[in-house]
Amino acid sequence: MVLLGPPGSGKGTQARLLEDRLGIPQISTGDIFRRAIALNTPLGIEAEKYVSRGSLVPDDLTIGLVRERLREKDAARGFILDGFPRTIPQARGVEEMAKELGWELDAVVYINVPERILLGRLVERQTCPSCGMMYHLANRPPLDEGTCDECGSSLEIREDDNEETFKKRLAVYFSQTSPLVDYYKHKSRLVDIDGSGGVEEVFKNMSAALGDRRKGFGKPIDDKSKDTGSNCQNKGELHNSR
Ligand code: AP5
Repeated sequence: MVLLGPPGSGKGTQARLLEDRLGIPQISTGDIFRRAIALNTPLGIEAEKYVSRGSLVPDDLTIGLVRERLREKDAARGFILDGFPRTIPQARGVEEMAKELGWELDAVVYINVPERILLGRLVERQTCPSCGMMYHLANRPPLDEGTCDECGSSLEIREDDNEETFKKRLAVYFSQTSPLVDYYKHKSRLVDIDGSGGVEEVFKNMSAALGDRRKGFGKPIDDKSKDTGSNCQNKGELHNSR
């Protein structure tokens, strides 16, 4: 399945909850690029030119990367694409990969959040580079300033989480990514979710809407993830939504 939505709509947050619920991996092109940038790999050096400016990494590079990732063993039972595709050529790339590898898209979840909410979510976001836990300075601050509650790593602010780059990312979203909403509507794949509520509410709505498309939905949010801390991202986001 695919998660589609503007920057800050909650794709990463919901993808991690889905990953836990369905037992299939979240594949985030944004995370792949950020890791490559941090490691200064050839991919990272190339991607940084685009990511730091809020532009999209070229389609051929991105499609090639996802094609390789989907061949990995853990994706054999299904996967959640977070932030890919985000152009029409990438969507066509998904169709080619589906033919090559013999799968079909269950659903494209469009997380619909009004523009006025998005900036506030991003400029106060802090992320843990080690475990992926996300914090929000107003809604979900860490217990110790600058330190991840779960693994103790120093929190970071994403290079592209500033107002200027956010405006660029949003403009890129409207010009290159939002046409995918109609694209998938015409293919009867689109599941349109109101993403303006709290994390738990959005997840409940999404689970209900997806209920008959995939097994494993219709159950309440897995209490296990709150209790065991098996996925600190989930724990934090559920806490955040109170
Ligand atoms: P990417 O990392 O995918 O960034 P994005 O799409 O801009 O999305 P974000 O990660 O900022 O937000 P999100 O929707 O995941 O929200 P989140 O759950 O984090 O891509 C970064 C860059 O990489 C791109 O600009 C581009 O350069 C490149 N790239 C990536 N994919 C590419 C592709 N396919 N092709 C070409 N280039 C590509 O939530 C945000 C915050 O809000 C968090 O603090 C969270 O705690 C909070 N929050 C979430 N949900 C809620 C809620 N319901 N209520 C309250 N707070 C919430």
